[in-house]
Amino acid sequence: MSLDVRKLGDALGAEIVGFDLLRDLNEDTAAEINHVWAENCVLCFRDQQSLNPKSFLTLARIFGDVQPQLATSKEYSVPEVPDVGILSNRQTDPVSGAKIMRGGSWHTDHSHSAKPPRGTILHALEIPDKGGDTLFANCRTAYHDLPDNLKKFVGDRKAHHVYLSSRSPRKMPTLRDHEKHLDKGAWHPLARTHPVTNEKSIYLNPIRNEAVEGLETEQGFSLLDDLLTHATQQKYQYSHKWHLGDVIIWDNRSTLHAANFDYDQTQHRLMHRVMIAGEATY
Ligand code: OGA
Ligand code: MN
Repeated sequence: MSLDVRKLGDALGAEIVGFDLLRDLNEDTAAEINHVWAENCVLCFRDQQSLNPKSFLTLARIFGDVQPQLATSKEYSVPEVPDVGILSNRQTDPVSGAKIMRGGSWHTDHSHSAKPPRGTILHALEIPDKGGDTLFANCRTAYHDLPDNLKKFVGDRKAHHVYLSSRSPRKMPTLRDHEKHLDKGAWHPLARTHPVTNEKSIYLNPIRNEAVEGLETEQGFSLLDDLLTHATQQKYQYSHKWHLGDVIIWDNRSTLHAANFDYDQTQHRLMHRVMIAGEATY
């Protein structure tokens, strides 16, 4: 079967049209889907209304091993299928009870871990009438386009990623005592090589970065800011307008993403969420 692939945006993204999970999933289509994903960074399957948490995991396994959810609070995952997370605009911090805006600014997932998830998948179950898009930025093209002097300055420098950066524009869910070990932090190259395409991408995370190797604090922050401003220019962005039943997987190695909280917060935005285990960075 050859897949019907359509571009989602100029910057990145592709949709696989008319893919029926139960009918069309086999080794060949799985390999082809992975190829399309690596090239396009973000992949969309429409009309997956019949997907339940278990079949969602079956789809997810096309892309690798499923990574357990980090947040262990009960309201953050599906009780019978705990590897499937719940993402809702009604969620609150497990400790303070305050409303949190999960995903609400540019980031890449879980980069404070040594092997961050290679991809994250969302399945849209409830969406607001208007707004609530997910923004994506293509950090591979952004790296490719970096001016030579900046590319050289980045070189093979690493950045430190922690659970919650002191500079983060938003709060992460508070870790409870038994979760504190998850806050070890990790160093990752700012120019990260993709293990499938072998291409480099700018790899940074404004909610997690705390330092850049070999640079004074302020100089490191200023480099991170310059790289973020560069990578999130309009020309590298795609804004996904959700339809019910959409399944989207993004590549955490080559993109940044952000949830747009521009919608009426009395309406429910609800997604199921699965992460795909990743590899050590280089
Ligand atoms: C996430 C995330 C974005 C969104 O699930 O990791 O950032 O639009 N979600 O909900
Ligand atoms: Mn995210």
